Amino acid sequence: MPEMMLPHQMKLLRSTKTKTLWLAGRASGKSRGGSRLVGKKIAERKSGIVSAQTFRALRTVMFREIEDFLKAYNIPYDYNKSLMIITIHYQEQDVFIHGTSAESFDETRGLTSMQYLVMDEAALHAAEAYRVLLGCLRGAGSPQVYMLTTPRGASNWTSRFIHDPDCEVITSGTHSNVFLEPDFLRLIESEYDGDFYRQEVLGEIVDTITQALLSPTDIRRCRAMEKPSRGLWRGVLGVDLGASLGRDPSCAVHREGSQFVSMQQWHIADQMHLADVIARYFMDSGASMMCVDNTGIGKGCTDRLIQLLPNKVVPINFGSKSIDERFCLERDRIWMTMAERCKAGVYIPRGDEWDALCEQMTTLEYKLLGNRLKLEPKALYASRLGGSPNEGDAAALSCAIPDQPIVESSLYVTQSYLPPSGSYSWMG
Ligand SMILES: Nc1ncnc2c1ncn2[C@@H]1O[C@H](COP(=O)(O)OP(=O)(O)OP(=O)(O)O)[C@@H](O)[C@H]1O
Ligand SMILES: [Mg+2]
Repeated sequence: MPEMMLPHQMKLLRSTKTKTLWLAGRASGKSRGGSRLVGKKIAERKSGIVSAQTFRALRTVMFREIEDFLKAYNIPYDYNKSLMIITIHYQEQDVFIHGTSAESFDETRGLTSMQYLVMDEAALHAAEAYRVLLGCLRGAGSPQVYMLTTPRGASNWTSRFIHDPDCEVITSGTHSNVFLEPDFLRLIESEYDGDFYRQEVLGEIVDTITQALLSPTDIRRCRAMEKPSRGLWRGVLGVDLGASLGRDPSCAVHREGSQFVSMQQWHIADQMHLADVIARYFMDSGASMMCVDNTGIGKGCTDRLIQLLPNKVVPINFGSKSIDERFCLERDRIWMTMAERCKAGVYIPRGDEWDALCEQMTTLEYKLLGNRLKLEPKALYASRLGGSPNEGDAAALSCAIPDQPIVESSLYVTQSYLPPSGSYSWMG
């Protein structure tokens, strides 16, 4: 049976303008519309680029929907998952879909003759990403650019297109998606009010609210930093225990001063065994303190860790009311502490295992409730991006207590630089 399309999705597919901007509330069918647009381009034998806000969203939302489409229409294709390229071999020519994201768009430099560009959650890309990706459309004849996004204020680069005569602007709210379950709609409605409601549900451009904790640029800066020398600060291990121990992984992140040093994940359901493994990891890491989320199901594990490592374990109640009145929950305060540290400069290793953490720091959103800051709850984040921010929770926990310098060595250094005794008098 042919699939029903929403009116706004039809407008997207039918747009003949060079640029098309679809400003929409959450869950109004943008990604589905974007993937069907790609389906139409495939039928027209056109190659193009699809970019999403994160690599994970590209893989789990856009490319998955494109694959579903190809399967539904029995179109054979190759999918190179490491390069994120889908190839459809038609007799007369190959058609390509190149996938990229707000973090990795640089890798597309040099790619040319693409006929269209689809940016899902365009406003979460830097304006630079748009310019670089646009370069890939050179040599293609009459290229088309499609930006699908929940708006991010008038100052966001996407908002200027509403005044551009070459741009078709489509707007829609969450309610326009008749395929949404009423329970989900209620959840969305209950999460937002005021300006946030106007932006997130109605899809309006609103200028009074701030968004993701960190921008992709902040993260790129952290990952481009020189690796600082180690040993000046005592390390802290942040530990997030899997919500349903075993299924959802438990994660530990080791931070030392201004650098993240290592991270580890475990799928272990037995709380005592998990505590043993984490305690061993802690000792091997050389960290001096451990902060563990003590909310809910992992309590048994935390108690065991306290027993195994006396005076080393700080249980943190992420879900309790914040000790700082600027935040709703302790989790909100602790994540914000991490975000502020990262803005000031924290070295994040370049290895792939750190990518998920970086994604989470640029995609987890916050809002102001009155004058208190509240982070997006885990369940909503998971429904939006298809995964819990476990690494982010662990990394935030590693920032939950103040750093402690290694006093002996810093004293030694200071003293060795003092002038010889007798050559000065501090009393003047
Ligand atoms: N034409 C359609 N037919 C059936 N279901 C649809 C259609 N369009 C959207 N949906 C469903 O509605 C839900 C939201 O759609 P989608 O994820 O595309 O929206 P979105 O605007 O990208 O959301 P988000 O703001 O979370 O990124 C999904 O479950 C999707 O499968
Ligand atoms: Mg989407």
